[in-house]
Amino acid sequence: MTKIKSTAIVVLLSMLVAGSGYSQVAKVSPEKAKMDKFINELMSKMTLDEKIGQLNLPSIGFDVTGPIVSTDVDKKIKSGFVGGVFNTFTPSAVKKLQDIAVNETRLKIPLIFGFDVIHGHKTIFPIPLGLSCTWDVNLVEQSARIAAQEASADGLSWTFSPMVDIARDPRWGRCAEGSGEDPYLGGKIAAAMVKGYQGSDLSKNNTIMACVKHFALYGAAESGRDYNTVDMSYVKMYNEYLPPYQAAVDAGAGSVMSSFNEINGMPATCNKWLMTDLLRRQWGFEGFVVTDYTAINEMIDHGIGKDLKDVSGMALNAGIDMDMVGEGFLLYTKELLKEGKVTIQTINEACTRILEAKYKLGLFDDPYRYISEERANTEILTAANRKVAREIAEQSIVLLKNDNQLLPLQAKGTIALIGPLADVKREMIGTWSAAGDNNKSESVKNGIKNLFGENVTLISAKGCNLLTDRTFLAEICGKESVDPRSDDEMIKEAVEAASKAEIIVAVLGEPAALSGEAASRSDIGLPGRQLDLLKALVATGKPVVLVLMNGRPLILDWESKNVPAILEAWHLGTEAGNAVASVLFGLRNPSGKLTMTFPRNVGQIPIYYNHKNTGRPYAGNDEKYKSRYLDVVNEPLYPFGYGLSYTTFKYSDLKLDKANMKSNETLTATVTLTNTGKYEGTETAQLYIRDCVGSITRPVKELKGYQKVSLKPGESKVITFSITSKDLAFYNDKLEFKAEAGKFILFVGGDSANNLESSFELAQ
Ligand code: NOJ
Repeated sequence: MTKIKSTAIVVLLSMLVAGSGYSQVAKVSPEKAKMDKFINELMSKMTLDEKIGQLNLPSIGFDVTGPIVSTDVDKKIKSGFVGGVFNTFTPSAVKKLQDIAVNETRLKIPLIFGFDVIHGHKTIFPIPLGLSCTWDVNLVEQSARIAAQEASADGLSWTFSPMVDIARDPRWGRCAEGSGEDPYLGGKIAAAMVKGYQGSDLSKNNTIMACVKHFALYGAAESGRDYNTVDMSYVKMYNEYLPPYQAAVDAGAGSVMSSFNEINGMPATCNKWLMTDLLRRQWGFEGFVVTDYTAINEMIDHGIGKDLKDVSGMALNAGIDMDMVGEGFLLYTKELLKEGKVTIQTINEACTRILEAKYKLGLFDDPYRYISEERANTEILTAANRKVAREIAEQSIVLLKNDNQLLPLQAKGTIALIGPLADVKREMIGTWSAAGDNNKSESVKNGIKNLFGENVTLISAKGCNLLTDRTFLAEICGKESVDPRSDDEMIKEAVEAASKAEIIVAVLGEPAALSGEAASRSDIGLPGRQLDLLKALVATGKPVVLVLMNGRPLILDWESKNVPAILEAWHLGTEAGNAVASVLFGLRNPSGKLTMTFPRNVGQIPIYYNHKNTGRPYAGNDEKYKSRYLDVVNEPLYPFGYGLSYTTFKYSDLKLDKANMKSNETLTATVTLTNTGKYEGTETAQLYIRDCVGSITRPVKELKGYQKVSLKPGESKVITFSITSKDLAFYNDKLEFKAEAGKFILFVGGDSANNLESSFELAQ
């Protein structure tokens, strides 16, 4: 018996024992009964071809992210061969296609319209990795709510978000699209996004259906190379990688997207254990599953099926309902049925799930409910939406270093604003901002001018091109981004500009296209000649503030040792420039905390805070036979949870209300947090727990709670954390979720590395 099968059996048995899932007769609500009746009646009228047509999702319009491009979409809609369409928006474009579905097909079944609304539709918020650094689920939900409001006003009913893949490898360009490395925080953010998109009523015209992706484990690609193999123990999967997907499903996400990668030898897209046993039976997911872009076709290259017909049957039988772009379902389902390789029941189930999604979106009541020129004209990129985007962008910035309180800057005198990202709009909105308009975003230069133009004199210089390979640069950032001068010439000009100023602000980093899909990098330092530029600026002896814009943790070894102040600003979205200016000059005290570890060098990767201890943990005393490197310390440059403020915080007086806790009790931990600096500020106090002895080995610590607290200078607050045995539970080697009796260490602090600690025992 394969491991996958035996795991599935363990999972099924545990469900039956627990009396959940299939062993119970579910009560059907009147709304569900009404929907079932409607769908059953509709299904009874549908031909096999019409049912198969619902399973097909072509792309028409903007972005193409794979080797196959959909053709003849209008014609296929007319023939009833299309269930939904993606990459098309604006009321007029959507209406054109919906008109065909509603007026020219036999059963008038409306289309669902999808799009990658990843961090905003037209008002672009920070890239998700940046957004997660707010640690603020209300802000995250608000960003998704606004995204849904704008997208739905633009004809869309479905977003391919949230992307909840845990990422521990910054070489992987798609870590920009997720919430970092932690399953607990990742789960909270995933749920908040689903809530933001879907609201409490999917059928409203300003809510859209979420699609959790990429199911599953896409972020664990070997060596950070996109689409690469994933091989992982079930215990690791359940404890460390699956929680955010489950949290999104529990929050009611209407759809799930299968990932490109294989998992332990079986591509996710034909993985029946994953799509049916785990997702539907164990987690109770009731929505539909769509593949990623041509993921079915790609199973041939994975080497799991001989041709498109073969892999299409495997995908359908695994529990996939909708085929994105590949058209294997469209072409071969009928034949597969004739040959007995798929059953009519499987086809019916897939079709039903897609029709149910349309029903829940209210499309059968009114296929045009998301199509309104008036809403498109009044609800998109509004001043109010931009205001929220700026607020969120400001709170996403992480202060990495601030020697001698160089920041905040005073709004006076002459500042040299240097760098290839200082005066551009284009890169601000980051990767996967497909509907975003670069021209609507603010550059840092404009931001400073907008907010402090009267008081500050700016001398600008580009300093160097973003990359040294000019052909590639033109390809990914446009010809206009390439400065024809040599980098040496530009560095010289920048140094001259710097010599006339009192302070240097260098805005450096990655262009947006260097992160995101198919944008893995093996060398994750500042690209091109940017480090040379920075060195030349530091060599002037003037104080330098480094503002970083990037889609992943970068290697910042030299920078961290030689530059006095560093702000991690990610790609912050439409309001990037204003947000950076606001933080630079102290209108906003930075409060972001990293959600992904920053390594010291590429050799440390993968590096994450919730690692295991090993049998030979290194304690820093130069012993040889210990788990360590000879050429670099084990600790990262900046740990998970890290982020400074213009003020300082002190943690004191950690107290537990009991030393022994029974499994039905709640343990209360209190700690005093004091603002010991000169500015009002916001701190995210983090609670970590270590399970000292387990039936399987446990991580050195795991995040189990946090609180974002604002304090005036000198002010103190007592923060309370409640811990129940659920917070101590984990999946054991039988994949049972249980807390085990014994000793636990509890840590509280401002990041994952610097904590107060105490301990307690959980009784049998
Ligand atoms: C491929 C990407 O992996 C996925 O995240 C995206 O939603 C689809 N293309 C559709 O654009």
